[in-house]
Amino acid sequence: MLPSFVFSLALWATPISGTAHSAGIPIPRSGLHTRLLHGGHNLQSSYDYVIVGAGTSGLTVADRLSEDGKSTVLVIENGQVVDSPRISQVFSGVAAMGPTWSYQINSVPQPNMNNRSATVVVGKLVGGSSAINAMMTIRGTSDDYDRWGSFFGKDSSWSWEGLLPYFKKKAVAFSPPGDAVAKSVNITWDTSYWGNSSRVHTSWPRFQWPALEAQVEAFRDIPGVEFPPDSGSGKAGVYWFPTFMDPDKVERSYARTGHFEGLNGTNFDVLTESKVTNILLNDGVATGVSFEQKTRNSTTIVTVKANKEVIIAAGAIHSPQLLQQSGIGPSALLEAAGIDTVVDLPGVGQNFQDHPMVFTSVVLQNFSVHPNPTDMYSNQNFSAWAQELWRANKTGPYSLGVGNAAAWLGMPVIAPDRFEEIASKLEKLDYATSLPNGTHPTVLAGYKAQMKNMAAAIRSPNTAFYNHVLTGAASSGTIVDLHPLSRGTVNINTTDPFKSEPVVDYRALTNPVDLDIMVEIVRFTKRYYFETRLRDLGPRQLQPPDSVNEPEDLKGFLSQSVNPSYFHPVGTCAMMPRELGGVVDEQLKVYGVKRLRVVDASIMPVLVGANTCQTTYAIAEKAADLIKADA
Ligand SMILES: Cc1cc2nc3c(=O)[nH]c(=O)nc-3n(C[C@H](O)[C@H](O)[C@H](O)COP(=O)(O)OP(=O)(O)OC[C@H]3O[C@@H](n4cnc5c(N)ncnc54)[C@H](O)[C@@H]3O)c2cc1C
Ligand SMILES: *[C@@H]1O[C@H](CO)[C@@H](O)[C@H](O)[C@H]1NC(C)=O
Ligand SMILES: *[C@@H]1O[C@H](CO)[C@@H](O)[C@H](O)[C@H]1NC(C)=O
Ligand SMILES: *[C@@H]1O[C@H](CO)[C@@H](O)[C@H](O)[C@H]1NC(C)=O
Ligand SMILES: *[C@@H]1O[C@H](CO)[C@@H](O)[C@H](O)[C@H]1NC(C)=O
Ligand SMILES: *[C@@H]1O[C@H](CO)[C@@H](O)[C@H](O)[C@H]1NC(C)=O
Ligand SMILES: *[C@@H]1O[C@H](CO)[C@@H](O)[C@H](O)[C@H]1NC(C)=O
Ligand SMILES: *[C@@H]1O[C@H](CO)[C@@H](O)[C@H](O)[C@H]1NC(C)=O
Ligand SMILES: *[C@@H]1O[C@H](CO)[C@@H](O)[C@H](O)[C@H]1NC(C)=O
Ligand SMILES: *[C@@H]1O[C@H](CO)[C@@H](O)[C@H](O)[C@H]1NC(C)=O
Ligand SMILES: *[C@@H]1O[C@H](CO)[C@@H](O)[C@H](O)[C@H]1NC(C)=O
Repeated sequence: MLPSFVFSLALWATPISGTAHSAGIPIPRSGLHTRLLHGGHNLQSSYDYVIVGAGTSGLTVADRLSEDGKSTVLVIENGQVVDSPRISQVFSGVAAMGPTWSYQINSVPQPNMNNRSATVVVGKLVGGSSAINAMMTIRGTSDDYDRWGSFFGKDSSWSWEGLLPYFKKKAVAFSPPGDAVAKSVNITWDTSYWGNSSRVHTSWPRFQWPALEAQVEAFRDIPGVEFPPDSGSGKAGVYWFPTFMDPDKVERSYARTGHFEGLNGTNFDVLTESKVTNILLNDGVATGVSFEQKTRNSTTIVTVKANKEVIIAAGAIHSPQLLQQSGIGPSALLEAAGIDTVVDLPGVGQNFQDHPMVFTSVVLQNFSVHPNPTDMYSNQNFSAWAQELWRANKTGPYSLGVGNAAAWLGMPVIAPDRFEEIASKLEKLDYATSLPNGTHPTVLAGYKAQMKNMAAAIRSPNTAFYNHVLTGAASSGTIVDLHPLSRGTVNINTTDPFKSEPVVDYRALTNPVDLDIMVEIVRFTKRYYFETRLRDLGPRQLQPPDSVNEPEDLKGFLSQSVNPSYFHPVGTCAMMPRELGGVVDEQLKVYGVKRLRVVDASIMPVLVGANTCQTTYAIAEKAADLIKADA
């Protein structure tokens, strides 16, 4: 079951699949310089660093650790190298997200969502989720990163100031938009928040829908809305943001192109189609991993040693699974699965978060701006023109991803009369009732610390809760809750811990304040259309139905329609103090084990109010420096 916003995007993604010229040129495997080990040939028995997962963070860390030309690095990946125009294609943003190159795991039924189940989608190929994501290049606000450090004390380097150098100098290279397209819709940006030295690129489509300028400007009619100078400024507001795209090739730029392809080191090996099932532990020290390698007729178990460190980068769904399979996790769970506990670490697989989203439809009946996205499939002249531009020069609408303008707003802006009441309600909750029965006291303590912080966040104009990506079309679409308060779990399946996928439970809406916040999110969307200059265009609310306005009715609508995932799973190996249910410390080292770190999206203790890819690159860049400092 895919969320409805994917359908709406897929709809206007159709034209391109019929055009031979629309796709980028697939990169032949001979273009990969770094050693790709097929079927394990040339695998050495030991490496300085063994990294699990050739995704966004794994390839970033591998590139940085091997760049001295001396340290030997092996990355083990369950998926394959995939050369496909659907991956390189920027248009529509989500052409590659189907089941072919991803894990798609159905969650357990969600009682607060009318027992619906939801599907978690994460990449399973070289490049990981960065190979299939929607390429939106977004950073959280300064509050989001300062919050992470606050759990350790005020001197933590996990802060906006501490991470900004990684965003700027390392994570991603920024190219400004072309003059003509920037002028056409008043795109604003500020290069002082960016660098240009990474091989992961972010840049701008060569076209924008003309109605976007008015859709941005309409937010000026709402008191309190800020217009920060750049998407990277760490401020909430309405702004333009770029696309993870190579500006010259006009193709997806991701961990594979930025941190694997074209590198020449013989000290950086990637082994594909190999699933790591255990971390080898010897007296509390990680010494290597064992993995399943599928040959034509059989599956063999192979082990490889790490001279310096084992680094887990399997993503927020599989990193906790691997720790639990290796005996690092909540002891009761491990016992139920028949796994000996090596380190009783109650937080592993807890604190699971993703951004809930809801599809809304407010239609502007008298909207008459052309071209707009519907012209891609309803106006043959326009689509013929678009295809000609793309074929000739890779310009025009086919260079567009999901979008480049959006609102990211705090509760005091979207609910000025209600945010204080909502914050106090959160402060008064009995937090234990929102977590599973039997939750370990340290995990509960961590949740309390987070909720105290979230109450402050609800009162802060610089923590974004509301996200609405503008489309240049006549109707609203997906609206996202950027700071959910409910926490789920990702645990091994105790009846079949090694063969089965982990059991994913979003525990959606188990904190009742999530619904209060989402009610305000839906109401604000209506306000944007009915109480700004857009009201002159005849807004009509279709979804939720026009008659549904009272909070209790909106809650009913939400429990029927919320999807708990916007593809941003995090939090399952949280960087928090151990007494707050943490899994890794500020050095990203797993508590209770030596020479073992986690470096992926699972370490975020609390979601950022942003799509998670850019932050994952920054975490990985910082992780590489921490690891080098210890070498
Ligand atoms: C459909 C979709 C759309 C998204 N859109 C955006 C967006 O527009 N903007 C944005 O900022 N973010 C977006 N995201 C989120 C972002 O891409 C992720 O947060 C980020 O890429 C996560 O990086 P990671 O390193 O934690 O994990 P991943 O990049 O997922 O890498 C994990 C890797 O580990 C491998 N692996 C797992 N288990 C094992 C094992 N046992 N052995 C060996 N290998 C293993 C996996 O195959 C995978 O390659 C999207 C994600 C998806 C799925
Ligand atoms: C959800 O399922 C449970 C267990 O089967 C059942 O008790 C409950 O009534 C169901 N709730 C809804 C809203 O269908
Ligand atoms: C363009 O955007 C800037 C920055 O938000 C704003 O100050 C200016 O008024 C906008 N110009 C137009 C013509 O909309
Ligand atoms: C990269 O950034 C540096 C420092 O801001 C600047 O001097 C240089 O011109 C930039 N290079 C490119 C290619 O944009
Ligand atoms: C790798 O080698 C090729 C061919 O010698 C060269 O063109 C390329 O720049 C090198 N890449 C890197 C990252 O050093
Ligand atoms: C693999 O299985 C096939 C079909 O069962 C068989 O013909 C072949 O001999 C097997 N190969 C090896 C190497 O065992
Ligand atoms: C399509 O273009 C042709 C030629 O430019 C023009 O005559 C026709 O009116 C256009 N049709 C539409 C629907 O725009
Ligand atoms: C492609 O770019 C060239 C050079 O700018 C221009 O002359 C030509 O008209 C463009 N082609 C199309 C179809 O826009
Ligand atoms: C959890 O505990 C509460 C209160 O004791 C009880 O009402 C509820 O049924 C329990 N839930 C589960 C799943 O055991
Ligand atoms: C756990 O694994 C068993 C055996 O493979 C399977 O039948 C069951 O559906 C799995 N449970 C969940 C919740 O995925
Ligand atoms: C839409 O435009 C028509 C014609 O200009 C006008 O008569 C009508 O009142 C408008 N409808 C709305 C809902 O604004």
